[in-house]
Amino acid sequence: MAMQREAGVQDFVLLDQVTMEKFMDNLHKRYQVGSIYTYIGEVCVSMNPYKQMNIYGPETIRKYKGRELFENAPHVFAIADAAYRVLKQRHQDTCILISGESGAGKTEASKIIMKYIAAVTNAQGQNEIERVKNVLIQSNAILETFGNAKTNRNDNSSRFGKYMDIEFDYKADPVGGIITNYLLEKSRVVQQQPGERNFHSFYQLLRGANDHELRQYDLLKETSKYHYLNQGSMDILTEKSDYKGTCNAFKTLGFQADEVQTIWRTIASVLHLGNVEFQTIEDELVISNKAHLQSAAKMLQVTEAELSTALTKRTIAAGGNVMKKDHDATQAEYGKDALAKAIYDRLFTWIISRINRAILFRGSKTQARFNSVIGVLDIYGFEIFDSNSFEQFCINYCNEKLQQLFIELVLKQEQEEYQREGIEWTNIEYFNNKIICDLVEQPHKGIIAIMDEACLSVGNVTDDTLLGAMDKNLSKHPHYTSRQLKPMDKELKHREDFRITHYAGDVIYNIIGFIEKNKDTLYQDFKRLLHNSKDANLSEMWPEGAQDIKKTTKRPLTAGTLFQRSMADLVATLLKKEPFYVRCIKPNDIKSSTLFDEERVQHQVRYLGLLENVRVRRAGFVHRQRYDKFLLRYKMISQYTWPNFHAGSERDGVRVLIEEKGFAQDVKYGHTKIFIRSPRTLFALEQQRNEMIPHIVTLLQKQVRGWIARKNYKKMKAARTIMHAYKTYKLRSYVQELANRFRNAKHQRDYGRSIQWPQPPLAGRKAEAKLRRMFDQWRAYMILRRYPRSEWPQLRLQIIAATAIAGRRPYWGQQRKWLGDYLANSQDNSGYDAYTANVRNMKNSGGDNFRQVLFSSFAKKFNRRNKQADRAFIVTDTNIYKLDGIKKKFRDMQRSMAIRELTSISITPGRDQLIVFHSPKNNDLVFALQSEMCTPLKEDRVGELVGVVCKKYHDITGTELRVNVGSNIACRLGEKARTIVVEAASNVEVPSFRHSAGNIIFEVPATYCY
Ligand SMILES: Nc1ncnc2c1ncn2[C@@H]1O[C@H](COP(=O)(O)OP(=O)(O)OP(=O)(O)O)[C@@H](O)[C@H]1O
Ligand SMILES: [Mg+2]
Repeated sequence: MAMQREAGVQDFVLLDQVTMEKFMDNLHKRYQVGSIYTYIGEVCVSMNPYKQMNIYGPETIRKYKGRELFENAPHVFAIADAAYRVLKQRHQDTCILISGESGAGKTEASKIIMKYIAAVTNAQGQNEIERVKNVLIQSNAILETFGNAKTNRNDNSSRFGKYMDIEFDYKADPVGGIITNYLLEKSRVVQQQPGERNFHSFYQLLRGANDHELRQYDLLKETSKYHYLNQGSMDILTEKSDYKGTCNAFKTLGFQADEVQTIWRTIASVLHLGNVEFQTIEDELVISNKAHLQSAAKMLQVTEAELSTALTKRTIAAGGNVMKKDHDATQAEYGKDALAKAIYDRLFTWIISRINRAILFRGSKTQARFNSVIGVLDIYGFEIFDSNSFEQFCINYCNEKLQQLFIELVLKQEQEEYQREGIEWTNIEYFNNKIICDLVEQPHKGIIAIMDEACLSVGNVTDDTLLGAMDKNLSKHPHYTSRQLKPMDKELKHREDFRITHYAGDVIYNIIGFIEKNKDTLYQDFKRLLHNSKDANLSEMWPEGAQDIKKTTKRPLTAGTLFQRSMADLVATLLKKEPFYVRCIKPNDIKSSTLFDEERVQHQVRYLGLLENVRVRRAGFVHRQRYDKFLLRYKMISQYTWPNFHAGSERDGVRVLIEEKGFAQDVKYGHTKIFIRSPRTLFALEQQRNEMIPHIVTLLQKQVRGWIARKNYKKMKAARTIMHAYKTYKLRSYVQELANRFRNAKHQRDYGRSIQWPQPPLAGRKAEAKLRRMFDQWRAYMILRRYPRSEWPQLRLQIIAATAIAGRRPYWGQQRKWLGDYLANSQDNSGYDAYTANVRNMKNSGGDNFRQVLFSSFAKKFNRRNKQADRAFIVTDTNIYKLDGIKKKFRDMQRSMAIRELTSISITPGRDQLIVFHSPKNNDLVFALQSEMCTPLKEDRVGELVGVVCKKYHDITGTELRVNVGSNIACRLGEKARTIVVEAASNVEVPSFRHSAGNIIFEVPATYCY
């Protein structure tokens, strides 16, 4: 069952009480919100919306395709799909019976069904199937042109019953079809009720054809000029464009030009015939309006004389003699109208046979054996007017037959299903309308038999005598009565009315015209006339005209009998098929899309027997479902079955669920299906399911999200693996390339320094840095290995010094051996023992805790008070200490500078031994290295000092110490900025500082200069 999201219940079976009031209330509620479809089990009740609904597009079709009835909101698509699925899955013929009164939407429903079937079939797009689908759909245009008319109830009312078989091949693609028509309302050809029109075809021809065409048919544009049109409404509908549509449909269906010609000529002939008038002049009957006679003859391709004779005289064969008898004016008038009606009726039947030829299955007989069909029946619903005649009698009889079929099929099906499933079956109480069918059709006793008897008897039998005969024969029948039988019943007119209590209600029929309509006489002369027409198509419509005049005494079958037979055939056809029902209802008589006319709707609900329908449906089990499907739908409401039932079969699962929920009393278990008796249970199941749905949606979302995330993760992982492999590959290629390039580096003088490194791949940047370092280390090793290990510390210092000075000073003692602690050397320092003792003392007692002296020298110092002094200093692994000179035994002057606090070193490019250690304390150390005797050193030691300090600084801080090289050195002494300028003087032997105008001049021998 569908979910309860819309107004009311989607299936009338779910009403808590089956009363007219509740039924109407549900119908009304749904209609108000535009839910025009509601089910009764598998029957679809359809309300005419009288407005375009946006529910037939491709989106909706997709929603219903291949779906069960209860999966979507009720829709005629679901019925079409169900019928199609039975056909496809079980190869069983099905039929869709559409009923309802005029204007209720039967024809629209049948077209919607056909379009749906066309949309869901032929996935391969085969040409022939497309053609068949096209022809099936286009045939509607032709049927409606010739079979539909504007009535007071419906602007496009079908005035015939239509049954169409759509034939499908073994793949369930439509491959053909056949249309059967029932009882065209031909009286309309010659006469229309006020406000109504003739068949659309007449207006289409007059208003749609061009002047040239009209001249061919001797016609004028004005409909008012034609007697058969001017009695009724002159309303203009869409015939102008419809005419084009009809002509196109003729083309699509492969009508030949001559066939189309015949059709329009025949239509024209009817109009001309209608204008033929008779006059009696001197006892002789003459045709006064010869022009129309002439045109009619021309259109029918007979001679004017032949037509004239056929209209005014009658041939009688009696006792082997053949003679002509003149008509009187009434007879001639009657004959003319009968001819016009017959011509139109035959034309219509012929057109349908011609359509059938276009849609007939074209495959072989063997193929046809595997074909199945869906029949679509669009037939008049129950009719009850103020005055009901022979036509209503036939139509209502037809509905009785269909109701009987419904009862048989539905009950039979139910019974069969219960038997199949092993369910105990108790008889359902329902009204079986067989008794009414019998009243109409029983041989010898039924109304049709009585009418036939009356029509066949010789002598002047009138409608009055017929009514008498019916009263006599049917007086005891509980469903028949008349004023004669019930004199007190004032509703019935004396000797005119009779009442049948149909299954859908009482209908009073007026007997006047019954005899004539049943006889449906057409003088034999007309049949011969038209059979002899030069138009082969027309002649084909009148085969019995070929019979010898003397052999035509046998009376043709009456209209009643013919109709009865066609109904019997129809029922026989339908009985073989699995039926689906669409019951159409119109909400009002004024074609309004908003008005819900309670009384009119109730009337239809009753006459369609819908309440009965609900009751029959509910009398048994309102719902049955296969165990697997049932479990799938409701398993979420029980903890035992959610998410899956593992403790047995699906049937066991259903049983567990039903028992847990306390519905055991209301269900029966069949072999393959569960049967639910009351709607309440189904309703409760649905409601519980609806409550669970949001949780399940969340759960599903969770799972889906998890699934998506896992999928993405896997994708990412895969991508990573690929990336990794790719990176490895690129790296390997890079390394390979390096190996190739540097293969001979070992043998080169610069050990491959000049070899250009290949551009590393993106993934190889980090590796490149490492590789370069490895390469540098290797090169360093290759270079260093030539030197003994004992020289490596000096080499390292020299490299550091060279890097720091970076070519800015040519002399930096690179050629000599670097000794570092020169003051500990007796050659440099005569007081070396005092020095060594002092240093040891400092090492042991001082707070600085240095481990070794890295460099020591005598120096001339310049201080903030612009004084120079000869001193010594040492560089330890932590500090630079100033010491007293040799005379004062190298005493620690308690003035030191921490190496870590240095900001830079400044030296000059020349040979002078000036060096400045900059500190952030605004008091830089300004030294000039010298010998013990304060004379210049014989060698350059500044480079070594720079190397030692820079290395230590780097060891301590991890960063490089900046070394400035320039002739002028900026420094700060006593918090003042000062510039030291090196000046060469020719007369100077010993370098010395002096103060001059704020600057410090360092005078050196000329040889010191750069
Ligand atoms: N589903 C629908 N959507 C929109 N309009 C509809 C629908 N069904 C019917 N109608 C409207 O109602 C009119 C009458 O419908 P339709 O011709 O199908 O009635 P019918 O039952 O075939 O009547 P009749 O017995 O006179 O042939 C249509 O012309 C159309 O305007
Ligand atoms: Mg119709």
